[in-house]
Amino acid sequence: MSIQKIAKRVTAPDIAGRKGGEPIVSLTAYHAHTARILDPHVDFLLVGDSLGMVMHGLESTVPVPLDMMIMHGAAVVRGSARSLVVVDMPFGSYEESPNLAFRNAARVMKETGCGAVKLEGGKRMGETINYMTERGIPVMAHIGLTPQSVHVMGGFKTQGRKRDEWTAIEEDAKAIAEAGAFSVVLEGMAELLAARITKSCPIPTIGIGASAECDGQILVLEDMLGLSPRVPKFVKEFAKIGDAIESAVQSYAKDVRARKFPAPEHTYAMKGKAGAVTKKTKMTGS
Ligand code: KIV
Repeated sequence: MSIQKIAKRVTAPDIAGRKGGEPIVSLTAYHAHTARILDPHVDFLLVGDSLGMVMHGLESTVPVPLDMMIMHGAAVVRGSARSLVVVDMPFGSYEESPNLAFRNAARVMKETGCGAVKLEGGKRMGETINYMTERGIPVMAHIGLTPQSVHVMGGFKTQGRKRDEWTAIEEDAKAIAEAGAFSVVLEGMAELLAARITKSCPIPTIGIGASAECDGQILVLEDMLGLSPRVPKFVKEFAKIGDAIESAVQSYAKDVRARKFPAPEHTYAMKGKAGAVTKKTKMTGS
């Protein structure tokens, strides 16, 4: 009889139950190695469509295809064992109708093994969120600065810095909570508005550039590691990995050019006596 190891993963309802409690910790992850490192330390891993910009050098998240999300989503699920994995629905894969959204989200869940999906939009996505959750798909919403709408917004613009913008955004938060979303990302939002939404909204708010008033926080991993060439004001660089990579690569290039790498400890010898490499065999290879 085989014994299956069942690792208990954080679920969407677990995250929903954290409203007002200890802050929820989250980061983006796009591949298995980083997922494995982050997994013990976060509550959920987001396979964000920001991967189009961060991993693939795109100008925005708009061109990201569904297959790209599925490929990275599956890698993150394979690399992790306990965090909830949330996969972003990319632009064009859900806005048209609840039906299309369900079909594509079901594909994401079946082919990646993730525990939830995220989509952008407030009030206008209410019907779709309700349709999806009623049919078994946990949905995280995303309001405020929604990068997939960059062309409509005219850039990546902080939301709610003027009082007259507040009502629409507060109505978005109310609508998606009523529709059944289990949590909501508040991106690029004035602190006072994020605080009001967090107070009034029954589901956890996850902030990115939306102040410490939210129920949890998320950052793009490469930004907080110091790997991104430019970062927005709201990012704290917790490390300088870009500099560390550059200095490691410089040392590698230097050692290769000086024939110092690979050294004997990185080299396979023949087994037995024939394994001794003399100056002659080194020169002639025979
Ligand atoms: O795509 C992403 O990384 C995101 C986060 C910024 C929340 O949606």
